[in-house]
Amino acid sequence: MQLSEFRQKEFINREEEIKFLKDWLYNIPDEILWLYGPKSTGKTTLIEYVIEKELTSNLKIFDNYWIKYINFRGLMIGSYESFINSFFEEADGDDDFSGEISAKFNIGVIRLEAKALEKIKNRKKNLFNELIEKFKKVKKTKIIVIDEIQTLEDIYYNEEKELLKEFLNFCVRLTKELHLSHVVILSSNTIFIDRIYNDAKLKLTSEFKKIDHLDKETTFEYLDYKINELNLSLDKGLIWDYLGGCIPLIQRMFRKRVYFNSLKEYLENEVKVAKSEIIEILKRFLDREKRGIFRHIVADIIEKGYYRSLEDEKKAYLEVIDFMTGREIFFYDPPEQYVKGNNRLYEKAFERLTANMS
Ligand SMILES: Nc1ncnc2c1ncn2[C@@H]1O[C@H](COP(=O)(O)OP(=O)(O)OP(=O)(O)O)[C@@H](O)[C@H]1O
Ligand SMILES: [Mg+2]
Repeated sequence: MQLSEFRQKEFINREEEIKFLKDWLYNIPDEILWLYGPKSTGKTTLIEYVIEKELTSNLKIFDNYWIKYINFRGLMIGSYESFINSFFEEADGDDDFSGEISAKFNIGVIRLEAKALEKIKNRKKNLFNELIEKFKKVKKTKIIVIDEIQTLEDIYYNEEKELLKEFLNFCVRLTKELHLSHVVILSSNTIFIDRIYNDAKLKLTSEFKKIDHLDKETTFEYLDYKINELNLSLDKGLIWDYLGGCIPLIQRMFRKRVYFNSLKEYLENEVKVAKSEIIEILKRFLDREKRGIFRHIVADIIEKGYYRSLEDEKKAYLEVIDFMTGREIFFYDPPEQYVKGNNRLYEKAFERLTANMS
């Protein structure tokens, strides 16, 4: 494990994932790449690191790339108009597709000339056909990265067409059909990923790469480094048992444990908070039958480390899995079809819960 600095914070090097992404981006675009995984594993940080540190910080390499990265999180997208406004910017001179390299390098939005943009806004031109034509003119390696794409769900392009479907069709054309641009899509909403995974056309044109919490070896190396740096004496096994390899949980532990008498007391408090959160959700939203199903699922997670979803799963089971995944308590892995806690802390809370659940 190596540590480096990224945006004035420490970055735990994800060597395998970085190598995978670089190799992927060096190849000819052929499939959409989906980065998925439990909540807060570092998907966004990873792709931003690769773009900023590995691709664009080296100007010589950067000269060969045309990269657009857009994070829909936090953008209030509720209509086609607001999608256009957050995705595109009116260019006062040359747009992103004219000339060799845009001097006004802007990673977040695509700059289009005013006239074309106006026609797209008025639906006089099809946005995606227009973009394909524009993409053909750029001779560099093109990469589009979309974070939190599920934001586009339930938005309509016009009365019949769903924006998300149109957008994904566009991504298939860019990759599989025309090999024009890389498309990397990130999401921790695995109910959404599951829907994509079960769409025959998209499954055939996509690769799914999981970005998981850190493994035990890397977590222990990181803990060794921090414990040494801060001159502490902490039980690494205990931290791993309660927090697993969840980076933000471990970082919070280093900041907050000083407010407790001991590490154990801090960790127990974290479990207590996670448990209360789950109890609140169970009480409010699940009836007795579904709470029973929840108990059955978590019993498997406690015993085996996962619950495997069956082919002919009963509807009520699927509803519980979907609901708790939507609430970010469960993590559901579509390719492997198993359910786990979204992080180790929730799994510890499951252990405590099964003792007194009704
Ligand atoms: N490799 C890393 N080294 C150090 N800190 C990291 C690393 N990856 C992520 N983090 C930290 O963990 C937190 C969560 O990261 P990030 O938001 O990238 O996760 P995510 O998987 O995109 O989350 P979400 O599921 O909410 O989209 C951030 O505070 C980030 O700084
Ligand atoms: Mg993210």
